[in-house]
Amino acid sequence: MNSLNKEKLINSHKAIGVIDSGVGGLTVVKEISRCLPHESIVYFGDTARMPYGPRPNEEVRRFTFEMIEFLQHQEVKLIVVACNSATAAGLSYYQQVCEQPVLGVIEPGVRAALAYSQNNRIGVIGTAGTIGSSEYEKTLKKNNGSLHIVSRACPLFVLLVENNLVDTPEARKVAHEYLDPLSDENIDTLILGCTHYPLMVDLIQEVTGPQVKLVNSAEEIVTEVEGNLIASGQQNPLNSGKTRYRFFVSGNPHPFEEVGYKMLQREIKAYQVQL
Ligand code: DGL
Repeated sequence: MNSLNKEKLINSHKAIGVIDSGVGGLTVVKEISRCLPHESIVYFGDTARMPYGPRPNEEVRRFTFEMIEFLQHQEVKLIVVACNSATAAGLSYYQQVCEQPVLGVIEPGVRAALAYSQNNRIGVIGTAGTIGSSEYEKTLKKNNGSLHIVSRACPLFVLLVENNLVDTPEARKVAHEYLDPLSDENIDTLILGCTHYPLMVDLIQEVTGPQVKLVNSAEEIVTEVEGNLIASGQQNPLNSGKTRYRFFVSGNPHPFEEVGYKMLQREIKAYQVQL
């Protein structure tokens, strides 16, 4: 075996790193475990410093880079920035300074939206940071200059999910306030540009109506991860034994473990780490 193939083999056994400001990136873990069950995962959730959405870009970039550095010590072969706010704040920066491939959620979400939309009228919702950066809008426009794009920051959605208030009349009211103006613009596709929004997808779909196709970036990124691993020959071999999932958080691990259990339908153990 030549040294290049040997290196590919060693790398193929390494884990995929996933980072998020908190629990929301578990939506990406769930998708990876469903679609790429032979891959191991190391997850870092910056729960002590979330939410990232209202923070300045420079700060989000710095925090995100600290998580990336942590993952690099865990020997990962690829890093997924599951957090939309972190992706918007500086994906190209992380890609420049990191030796492993770093994938963000914006490009895959945009690709899916472009494929789904029939009328070229696309909505984007996200945190204040993501929407303020206009990264979704710029990436959409780069691919199709004639799109009609309606963007809206929905900061209260994160709070509703975090506080388990999605099934309440207040949540329905907030959802109508945020989403009705988008529906009035006759969008046929809506990008859920925040890790937390897939956790309230039923309410969002109810409010937009079934004619609007919702794009879940967590689902879309997995296709990108798989493509990257195939292209670099670093898929974990099917017979490599048991996959390992390791979870690290900067805050109290217990609430994270509880949400993790609900989302992944399995007990998870999270370790607290100071960044
Ligand atoms: N993970 C963030 C995102 O996807 C949402 C939560 C936060 O504001 O930190 O934008």
